[in-house]
Amino acid sequence: MPGPWPVTAERGADGALTIGGVCVRDLARDHGTPLWVVDEDDLRERCRRYVAGFPGVDITYASKAWCAVGILQLVEEQGLFIDVASGGELYTALVAGVDPSRLILHGNNKSVAELDRALEVGVGRIVVDSFDELDRLEALGAQRGVTTPVWLRITPGIDAHTHEYVRTGHDDSKFGFTLSLGLADEAFTRSLALDHVEVVGVHAHIGSQIFGTDPFIANAEVMLDLLARWRDEHGVVLAELNLGGGMGIRYTHEDHPVEVQRYGRAVLDVVHERCTTLALPRPRLLVEPGRAIVGPSTVTLYEVGTIKHLPGLSTWVSVDGGMSDNIRPALYDAEHEVMLAGRASSAEPTAVTVVGKHCESGDLVREHAPLPGDLTVGDLLAVAATGAYTASMASNYNQLPRPAAVLVRDGQVRLLRRRETDEDLVRADVSLR
Ligand code: LLP
Repeated sequence: MPGPWPVTAERGADGALTIGGVCVRDLARDHGTPLWVVDEDDLRERCRRYVAGFPGVDITYASKAWCAVGILQLVEEQGLFIDVASGGELYTALVAGVDPSRLILHGNNKSVAELDRALEVGVGRIVVDSFDELDRLEALGAQRGVTTPVWLRITPGIDAHTHEYVRTGHDDSKFGFTLSLGLADEAFTRSLALDHVEVVGVHAHIGSQIFGTDPFIANAEVMLDLLARWRDEHGVVLAELNLGGGMGIRYTHEDHPVEVQRYGRAVLDVVHERCTTLALPRPRLLVEPGRAIVGPSTVTLYEVGTIKHLPGLSTWVSVDGGMSDNIRPALYDAEHEVMLAGRASSAEPTAVTVVGKHCESGDLVREHAPLPGDLTVGDLLAVAATGAYTASMASNYNQLPRPAAVLVRDGQVRLLRRRETDEDLVRADVSLR
């Protein structure tokens, strides 16, 4: 089965989907739907593959993909560093007990409070994104009497061919110091005059859900050339290089992402060659995958609530969640594979439109999903590869409580996040009566 499904996904003897040795019907009965089901073996295995595929590289989990306490604990146990991109992600990592020195703080508009907190707890690296931030860090460092080691986020001018909303390496971007416009040079030069900020490396993330290795290779080349040029111009060799995340994953059987091992080899080979050519010592390297770590580990279980046949038009299958637990189809036209999960069926598949229960026509789960013709109300559907950017982008639209999440392994189930209640929905509201 795997394809876009987690490593332990298989059909049990009764035809129902099992993950981590647990039948999805039991999960739905005990925890309700919608439900995020995380395959612990899959998640740990993806971490291991990164560590093995990039020998000598510090693998950093981009927690924006899914910033839950338990997820952070698991990836830290696998030896990964963790990138946080807000005070809230930093807070979550601290609650999870992550060693602050293994944290990297990102963000194009970090507040003074976020930066100050990062200095207070001693995050490993701060990735400076703007001139304003350099000024803020200098002032904060002076107040605290510390010098902060930072990386400069460089916008390398690489146009990764991916969805417009998840491209970040091209010149006209809100992120980082644009190399082609001289901003990266200006930032580095300015930083040399600062007393409380020390640039020790550079960072570049070119985008997300990228399938080939070429954009990553180009990114490494541009960044190493930059390090060599700064060495020549300023006599300073920066020793750390973070090449960002962005590796694509399989959402459907039609997706063919690069294997981690090949991606690792391609990047490490080009780093080796380029460093040799430039007579540059190999910097400490980091990569920062989010989606590729957590995305494939998870499926979302939904129950079919209504089925509407429109002869000559479509069949609309509505499930009990939707864009509040997975905004990706609505926001990026993302396609996630869907399967009938609660039972087997030999009925001929027909293409149906699976939608959520929100008051919007854009509330899609999957268009043209080939599901068995005997699909019926009460059936359980599973949606593949929903570990990344679903829970972390979830909302309470239409005041739907956010789903629970469970971790499954070897027939055991552990709760990662309880289902929200109606009380949770109004917890922060203030009544005027
Ligand atoms: N590093 C930085 C600085 C990033 O901005 C990101 C993602 C990553 C690493 C991790 O990228 P990944 O390996 O996960 O592709 N919500 C979108 C994806 C947004 C990605 C934002 N930045 C989606 O659902 O496709």
